[in-house]
Amino acid sequence: MIVMGIETSCDETAVSIVKKNKSTGFGEVISEIIFSQILKHQPYGGVVPELSSREHVKNLDKICRESLRKSKLKIDKIDAFAATAGPGLLGGLLVGTNYAKALSLSLKKPFFAINHLQGHILVSRMKKKISFPFLVLLISGGHTQLLISENYNKFKLLGESIDDAVGEAFDKTAKLLNLKYPGGPEIEKLAKNSKHKNYFTLPKPLLKHNNFNFSFSGLKTSVRKLIQNGNMTVEKRKTLAYDFQSVILDCLLLKCEKAIEYFKKNYNGKYFVLSGGVASNMFIRKGFNNLITEKKMSFFVPESKLCLDNGTMIAWAGIERLSNGEKGDNISSLPKPRWSLENL
Ligand code: KG4
Ligand code: ZN
Repeated sequence: MIVMGIETSCDETAVSIVKKNKSTGFGEVISEIIFSQILKHQPYGGVVPELSSREHVKNLDKICRESLRKSKLKIDKIDAFAATAGPGLLGGLLVGTNYAKALSLSLKKPFFAINHLQGHILVSRMKKKISFPFLVLLISGGHTQLLISENYNKFKLLGESIDDAVGEAFDKTAKLLNLKYPGGPEIEKLAKNSKHKNYFTLPKPLLKHNNFNFSFSGLKTSVRKLIQNGNMTVEKRKTLAYDFQSVILDCLLLKCEKAIEYFKKNYNGKYFVLSGGVASNMFIRKGFNNLITEKKMSFFVPESKLCLDNGTMIAWAGIERLSNGEKGDNISSLPKPRWSLENL
């Protein structure tokens, strides 16, 4: 079983060809190309939707051809074409899904409209046997959600951010600190060299609320005030980056600890999975590894490259759907810029 996955929901044009190994059941990446548009968006300090769709149009065909060439496969060896159909920026979603639909029609192979968040979560199963149900924290630029993955196509949302997503909080705070976009890796780098810890008082909202929701928008306001107060030396900037990262980690860990109790009481599963772009942060990964080990669950986070947006996770989600006997999606289906995992 070989599937091509196309990802165009934001600022990467990515294409992968993934094969499911018959005997192991795991996925083998045959070719993978991730073409980042970051340099195009950097002057604006964030992703410009119009610019992003134009870039996808310009590059997608070249990247698909290159990915086929690298795979050394004839296109008729591909069993299905999968593309991100949401959530994301509509322009990019239209480019990717229409391209996949055209291939699917001309080659008479199924087309799969993939939920991007489902891709982020299921890719954890590509090289490891992680059985359902498992508990998952998805932390990306657009989403912060605590979920139970009951099956490959059934998710229960326990809680989410009521305002900014974690990645968004990183990006906005980085902008205040005059760091480049995307801000997550920049803050992580700056924080690494900090000599001091816990110097700044930053808010931890919703911690006492008895639910699984998060709130991160107050953090950037506090950071803004601290910067406006002046006297931000080089050393203090490093400390601020460290303290910001560690407050985020504390908020995430506390709600996840509650979720673990809930999960253990109501489900029979052993894995806690961390996924999404922010999960590539080593400080956050380490914090989670400690908590999950202490809670006697098994912890899994995909390799950094697979946490960030890529075509492999879209191809793999297609493989999971195909393996479960699904026949593909209607060629007339529309992309969904907002698409909850509870409505697959
Ligand atoms: O999953 P992703 O690639 O795209 C979305 O689906 O949103 O996540 C991108 C987000 C950005 O906000 C970026 O700043 C953040 O992930 N990110 C990080 C790190 N690398 C990427 N945040 C914190 N630390 C990192 N090392
Ligand atoms: Zn993503």
